Amino acid sequence: MQHSLEEIIEGKLAEKQKQGLLRSLSQPQGIDFSNNDYLGLANHFEIAKAAADAYVKYGAGSKGSRLLGGNNQIFEETEKWLAKWKGTEAALIFNCGYSANLGVISALCDSETHLFFDKLNHASIIDGYAMGGGKLHRFTHNSPADLEKALQKADTDGLKLIAVEAVYSMDGDIAPLKEYADLAEKYGAMLYVDEAHSDGVLGPGGKGLIAELGLEKKVHLSLTTFGKAYGTMGACVFGSKLLIDYLINSARSFIYSTAISPGAVVAMQKAVEVSTRDNFRRDSVLKMSADFRRKITEAGIDCMQSETQIVPVLLGTVERAQKCKEFLLEKGFCTACIRPPTVPKGMARLRINISAGHKEKDVSNLAEALIFYIHSL
Ligand SMILES: Cc1ncc(COP(=O)(O)O)c(C=O)c1O
Repeated sequence: MQHSLEEIIEGKLAEKQKQGLLRSLSQPQGIDFSNNDYLGLANHFEIAKAAADAYVKYGAGSKGSRLLGGNNQIFEETEKWLAKWKGTEAALIFNCGYSANLGVISALCDSETHLFFDKLNHASIIDGYAMGGGKLHRFTHNSPADLEKALQKADTDGLKLIAVEAVYSMDGDIAPLKEYADLAEKYGAMLYVDEAHSDGVLGPGGKGLIAELGLEKKVHLSLTTFGKAYGTMGACVFGSKLLIDYLINSARSFIYSTAISPGAVVAMQKAVEVSTRDNFRRDSVLKMSADFRRKITEAGIDCMQSETQIVPVLLGTVERAQKCKEFLLEKGFCTACIRPPTVPKGMARLRINISAGHKEKDVSNLAEALIFYIHSL
């Protein structure tokens, strides 16, 4: 019997529901520990005002792709400014981090490319590979030894591309970037680092993990997103002029998409200026995160290898994670329940993101509520 379109789609949704994986939209309630506004900049007056003024001055839209009528001096000046800030030759603004990863990875991956991919990399990186192609080597999370084994086996005249994150979005741990940079050099590979969750928080003036480790000359391409610590939106890829020229010519998500609005571009620069100036935000988020992690680990709670403002609480099953989230919500705390396929099966967790916008008291009250709940299981 032929099914109607509705029946086919309902069947797909029912399957997700059966597995406890149905998603739905809801608004955060209570004190929000689920968003990525790590520096508390999303409601910052100076940034919002700079964006609002730019919207009035330059209009609401960019009118086209950068290659077809959408380019203007705001983009070019901001890219120059951002490249100088990061210490690279060139920079290219993308509409968001997802689109940047899709564009960069697909542009670099063709049938000759070997992509070396940390197993916990973000979906946007694997989606870029799916769009491009080549041979995929998935190496054990944060394991330079496993990466090296894969590099030794790779036999190609094409590009070897290592793609990693600086701080992992669901685990809050930090990548061994120095070791990766050494391996990239040793095996003639290109190193791409996604700094979505490290920029703004780590490094001098929040310039990220690459800057913290002094690896600017060893990383070939990196990504900053502005929708997280910088509290705005959009993304920027940093690298040599050669690589940025290549992306302008090959990154499909850049070429075939209307550019982000000039107001959002102005907000990017202003957010970096405010973040660089306001060191107290970084100090505060890092201190509150360290206190929170210490408190809950001392109480026997597994927050995995987290070393940052992203603190996972490993609960295993989706049901356990969901129940814990519900309990905390009753106590006035909004946390994110992270389930497969975002994390591997059996590794469901709450993800608690600490922000400079939180009060110390809120963070310690959350720790106490969490400890109480876990101990009562
Ligand atoms: C590691 C990583 N890269 C890229 C992205 C995508 O960035 P954006 O939200 O700007 O699209 C995310 C967002 O979740 C991320 O966690």
